[in-house]
Amino acid sequence: MTPHAGDAANATKRLVATCSVLLVLCVNVANAQAAGSGIAGTMHDTRAWEFGGGTGEVCIMCHAPHNVKPTGPLWNHAPSAATYTLYGSSTMDAAVGQPGSSSKLCLSCHDGTVGILDYAANTGGMSLGDAYGCVDCFSVLGTNLKNDHPVGITYDAVLATADGQLANPETKTVTIGATMSRTGTLASTMLVSGKVECASCHDVHNRYTVGASSRYLLKVSTTGSALCLQCHAK
Ligand code: HEC
Ligand code: HEC
Ligand code: HEC
Ligand code: HEC
Repeated sequence: MTPHAGDAANATKRLVATCSVLLVLCVNVANAQAAGSGIAGTMHDTRAWEFGGGTGEVCIMCHAPHNVKPTGPLWNHAPSAATYTLYGSSTMDAAVGQPGSSSKLCLSCHDGTVGILDYAANTGGMSLGDAYGCVDCFSVLGTNLKNDHPVGITYDAVLATADGQLANPETKTVTIGATMSRTGTLASTMLVSGKVECASCHDVHNRYTVGASSRYLLKVSTTGSALCLQCHAK
């Protein structure tokens, strides 16, 4: 399975749509940066979204040094007001909660409801939903997270024991990244305040990422489903 709905089937369509609808982002798609080389030149280099004009800064649409919002680290992007429909299944042991604060930062662009360009005092910037004209497609996860890997779940030794097929996050050792790498417990390398969040699998700054390119910004390779097997003993 893939952790988000429709990704594999849409891979080619996505590039085409990206190039025709988001002309500027298209340049970035073609130029995925080396894994571990940092955020410049990746899809999150905000210079790519300025559509002519703008500040020429890499971090500005997500962070600023002053007058920022309390929702995240020196956070400068407009938040989403969405309440999310959560993943659920009869075999889940964990209680799935609303996405944690770090995941909400991602969702402020990726749920498709807020303008990508709505940073600082700016409003009315195009949302990913507007750009693609659809939800649950491409990079637009939507506000229905039922078809995405659950986030906002506390993952500890108690859950591992209850489930019987999850590694103990407090003792299992994992290496994230390649060119730049870090080894430590699952809890210290992949969990955010003890929870599975978007940043468990993705490194938005393209530092602890793997693969020939920074495509998908993954912390562990999906080859042989290694990413999944860090946590799931299957
Ligand atoms: C597309 C949005 C985005 C851009 C652009 C971005 N960041 Fe971040 N940054 C985040 C998010 C989301 C978090 C919190 C969650 C996480 O770390 O994954 C974060 C966390 C941080 C943190 C605190 C946690 C840590 O990792 O140390 C620092 C410092 C930081 N960013 C610096 C920067 C700098 C410097 C730049 C520009 C060179 C930058 N970021 C560009 C989204 C962004
Ligand atoms: C300020 C808006 C913004 C924020 C915040 C943001 N993103 Fe993105 N992200 C984008 C845009 C724009 C793209 C390119 C979309 C496209 O063309 O498909 C993108 C692309 C991606 C991709 C696809 C990269 C690829 O190579 O295909 C991933 C994965 C991703 N984001 C994860 C995250 C995660 C995880 C966070 C939070 C830690 C986050 N994003 C925060 C705007 C944002
Ligand atoms: C359990 C790991 C995991 C978690 C948690 C996770 N992702 Fe992903 N994500 C992936 C993988 C793996 C891919 C690569 C494409 C695929 O295999 O579906 C991906 C792909 C993506 C893409 C690119 C999709 C596309 O079609 O191009 C975006 C954007 C993204 N993730 C954002 C997020 C956001 C936002 C969150 C939190 C709400 C999140 N991810 C949580 C593993 C995860
Ligand atoms: C950082 C740890 C982590 C990673 C990486 C991870 N998962 Fe999970 N996943 C969890 C936890 C914790 C749960 C909650 C399990 C439970 O409560 O039964 C979960 C839940 C799930 C569920 C729902 C189980 C159910 O009973 O409905 C599926 C399916 C799943 N993960 C598949 C994957 C796949 C596929 C990957 C790789 C793309 C992956 N996971 C990567 C930690 C992780």
